Amino acid sequence: MTAVKPKTGAAKPMLRVLSGEQLERPPLWLMRQAGRYLPEYRALRADKGSFLNLVYDSDAAAEVTLQPLARFPRFDAAILFSDILIVPFAIGQNLSFVTGEGPRLTPPLAVAQLDQLSEVPARLDPIYATVAKVKAALAPDKTLIGFAGAPWTVATYMVAGQGSREQAEARRLAYADPKAFGALIERIEQVTLEYLSGQIKAGVEVVQLFDSWAGSLSPEQFERWVIAPTARLVAALRKRHPEIPVIGFPKGAGGKIAAYARETGVAAIGLDETVDPRWVAGQLPPDLPVQGNLDPLALLAGGAALKSAVARILDAFAGRPHIFNLGHGILQDTPVDHVKELIRLVKGRT
Ligand code: CP3
Repeated sequence: MTAVKPKTGAAKPMLRVLSGEQLERPPLWLMRQAGRYLPEYRALRADKGSFLNLVYDSDAAAEVTLQPLARFPRFDAAILFSDILIVPFAIGQNLSFVTGEGPRLTPPLAVAQLDQLSEVPARLDPIYATVAKVKAALAPDKTLIGFAGAPWTVATYMVAGQGSREQAEARRLAYADPKAFGALIERIEQVTLEYLSGQIKAGVEVVQLFDSWAGSLSPEQFERWVIAPTARLVAALRKRHPEIPVIGFPKGAGGKIAAYARETGVAAIGLDETVDPRWVAGQLPPDLPVQGNLDPLALLAGGAALKSAVARILDAFAGRPHIFNLGHGILQDTPVDHVKELIRLVKGRT
């Protein structure tokens, strides 16, 4: 009999759950865990002058990535500090973040044509340097998560040139000119595949695809612009890096998560706070790992509301592989003490 070798890194709680194990206490990390609710983030961000300066200074970006783990040693994972809009930047749009208003991509593709942009792949390289620096400094029981936006969500920003109400411009273009829109989705897919491959080669052990605007599509358009591109990307990643789990996060997908889970091939699914954890049991295969789904507002509120919301999630997901997280990114006004309390509620008092 030959002994079964444990998978590399299989002792890390995050990776154990992603390979289908149920742990008595779920691993825990928070979307946007490196960010403005942390005073040490605000200090470094002020020092660097802008968000993009911070992302492109790989020493500073590595430090920011590690800040949440330094403050909360019971977090199980670090997520690379970067942004989903680095991919449009590498495709050739200009990127800036206007304080108080959010991101701007110019020219917007509702105005310009995709073939007028020239790719700048070197805009991805500093991100890989950040990954390598974080990996070298990370404790052996912690997991390093890489990420990208899913093609649909990235396309909504590229078309509008900024965040947009109900993603109307991208949805309109997808109906009016599916050929042009399909070409954009494919370009994003290709660059994202290279980008995630680069992150993996530099040391990330899991990747998450953020589909923040998956909720705005009709079922038929959801199949075409969320499920199909995600399935292609997941298949291509699996071919190149069979050992790397992909977490899909189709925010707002609601009743369409069963089809998403079945058809995309993701290793785990991120659930937003609008999904009832008890309803999930009848929707997803029992061995499919799930991640989520505490309401960020419950964390902001704290106290008894936080306690009961956490208990409800722990209880509902006790019978399947579960990674504890929020249903969306942590809000900047969240008190740091509430995060400490969350960790105690999830992990116990010790
Ligand atoms: O989770 C993490 O800690 C990793 C870092 C991370 C950031 N953005 C840093 C960031 C991740 C995973 C993202 C993903 C991201 N970025 C998404 C998908 C997830 C989601 O929230 O739906 C989206 C849609 C973006 C695009 C984006 N980036 C917007 C709309 C904004 C502006 C909004 C704002 O809060 O100002 C950003 C900026 C951004 N990305 C910040 C951070 C910490 C704030 C920038 C600052 O410090 O001024």
